[in-house]
Amino acid sequence: MYKALALVLASAVSVMACTIPGDVLSNNITESFSLQVQNASFPDIHNHYLNIWDWGGGDQHLFVSPAGNFTSALTLVDGVITLPWDPPRRAVVNGEYEVKDNTTKIFMTERGDPRAVFDVVYGCNPDTDAVQVQLAFKSKGDENAGGNVGVRPFNGNFDFRWTPAGNTAYDPERPWTKVTLAVVYS
Ligand SMILES: *[C@@H]1O[C@H](CO)[C@@H](O)[C@H](O)[C@H]1NC(C)=O
Ligand SMILES: *[C@@H]1O[C@H](CO)[C@@H](O)[C@H](O)[C@H]1NC(C)=O
Ligand SMILES: *[C@@H]1O[C@H](CO)[C@@H](O)[C@H](O)[C@H]1NC(C)=O
Ligand SMILES: *[C@@H]1O[C@H](CO)[C@@H](O)[C@H](O)[C@H]1NC(C)=O
Repeated sequence: MYKALALVLASAVSVMACTIPGDVLSNNITESFSLQVQNASFPDIHNHYLNIWDWGGGDQHLFVSPAGNFTSALTLVDGVITLPWDPPRRAVVNGEYEVKDNTTKIFMTERGDPRAVFDVVYGCNPDTDAVQVQLAFKSKGDENAGGNVGVRPFNGNFDFRWTPAGNTAYDPERPWTKVTLAVVYS
């Protein structure tokens, strides 16, 4: 019975597999975009957007929509998500480190915290199977740490948090959920 289920799942996966183009994408995106948050197993998150929340001191914290303000003004500069404001706000990985699940907050600031650096890659849209452009986490500042971006409950909303590659820490009371960040051009 489990074997049959596994076969059904395997064939479903093979049907949902768009053809990934062979070219390497630039880590600069000058055309403005918004970021769609995807994880088809979690309807509260899936196909929502990465929103910004004016947190004071020039910082913008990042929340899953509908919390905060929608933005389609994001750009990517050397792999760093950037709001081209004066001064620019850049996505960083720093602060509110939580030992229980080994996660660190990702937010946007004009200060010099370790930047969240992404590669630009192709993927398949989980609903339509269309080719899409995604951001894949690469490094935290100069630390080539890899790892993943996810979201976690925060006062009735979801904020964005990074976990290092191979992380096994998990807090069932505040589950961290891995997400795909898909680029949607404005
Ligand atoms: C990306 O943009 C930055 C800033 O404009 C520039 O210094 C860098 O050379 C660009 N990289 C590529 C691969 O075009
Ligand atoms: C949303 O943007 C408006 C206009 O800039 C601002 O007044 C408000 O504080 C922002 N709200 C949040 C949650 O960032
Ligand atoms: C927590 O993250 C650090 C790297 O930031 C890693 O060395 C450690 O193994 C992780 N802990 C667990 C329990 O995964
Ligand atoms: C969805 O979230 C779960 C739990 O974090 C994770 O195991 C899975 O890889 C995620 N799926 C995608 C497509 O990111």
